[in-house]
Amino acid sequence: MENLRIPGPTPCPDEVLQAMSRQMINHRGPEFSRILGDMTTKLKQLFQTKGDVLLLTAAGTGGLEAAIVNTLSPGDKVLSVSIGVFGDRFASIAEQFGADVIPLRFEWGKAADVDAIRRALQAEPTIKAVLVTHNETSTGVTNDLASINPVVKEFDKLLLVDAVSSLGSIELPVDDWQCDVTVTCSQKGWMIPPGLAMVSLSPEAWQAHANARMPRFYWDFTRAKNYLERGQTPWTPAVSLVFALAVSLEMMLREGLPNIIARHARVGKATRDGIKSLGLSLFADERYASNTVTAVAVSDGLDIKKLRQILREEYQIVLAGGQQRLDGKIFRIGHLGWVTENDIEAVISALKVVLPQTGFGEC
Ligand SMILES: Cc1ncc(COP(=O)(O)O)c(C=O)c1O
Repeated sequence: MENLRIPGPTPCPDEVLQAMSRQMINHRGPEFSRILGDMTTKLKQLFQTKGDVLLLTAAGTGGLEAAIVNTLSPGDKVLSVSIGVFGDRFASIAEQFGADVIPLRFEWGKAADVDAIRRALQAEPTIKAVLVTHNETSTGVTNDLASINPVVKEFDKLLLVDAVSSLGSIELPVDDWQCDVTVTCSQKGWMIPPGLAMVSLSPEAWQAHANARMPRFYWDFTRAKNYLERGQTPWTPAVSLVFALAVSLEMMLREGLPNIIARHARVGKATRDGIKSLGLSLFADERYASNTVTAVAVSDGLDIKKLRQILREEYQIVLAGGQQRLDGKIFRIGHLGWVTENDIEAVISALKVVLPQTGFGEC
């Protein structure tokens, strides 16, 4: 089996794969309704929220679009806090739907500066919402959301959070950290294939939704909530993925959220220590280095393409490259979801052998 070490899609446990081979059921019938109800209760536990959690058949980007179009109106001022590719994407979606986006960008590899967020909110009192990526998968940085949320709330703004590669893996108590809309998706820490987005909403988010005028149909949260109350989704859901999620949520609750978070912390540290032991450097500011993905800076003549190819072909280890302007500058190791220290040990051991074959250290 391949050691798929990209930051999503992540490997799926056998129980999850088996669950997906089940025959279809009526998505408007009592069994589906029971599964959806039970799943929603479990999702709320893992989101640590008393608010609503909606299940959308969507990629993570669909969840982000849903967050925007359900809470904002064209012309609304939005502060976009971006530390990488996915922060920029969240801003682009808002812009596309007519929001007046004020960009607040930080150097890639660094976390967002809380004081700069405060200054931006002070400078523009009419800002309605703040967009934040909790864990920036493109750079391997986790923003300090626990420090950001009090500032956003001090100014009484809506906090929309991209938690695609953090929720269920890195601590994110949605209610305690006052997140109004929080988006995650299936192929990350949730250990199932791509295709489902899970979105939580606070009471404030529902208030904003009541006045939000951006166009929406498929993503409409009112429809999603009304159908959820009947144990259904408005549109035909990805039924097989729902079976899979039912199993993975069971597994997650059996392990327990604190244990899952501790395992990701251990695996993250093992990855960073391993990388440094090889003489490689982390791309991320280590104080904010992510426990779900490690970005490795490329230096000393290392040929990343060759490295990834040898690892894939000779060791069945699949690593991710860099995105956009980080293409050729970093490679990334995913360590979220169904992962243990053994998976990372295998990567570090293989790197030790392969690095000298890829020009590393020759410059
Ligand atoms: C932080 C973050 N946001 C958004 C996305 C987009 O998710 P998707 O590719 O499922 O649309 C990703 C995907 O990697 C991500 O890591």
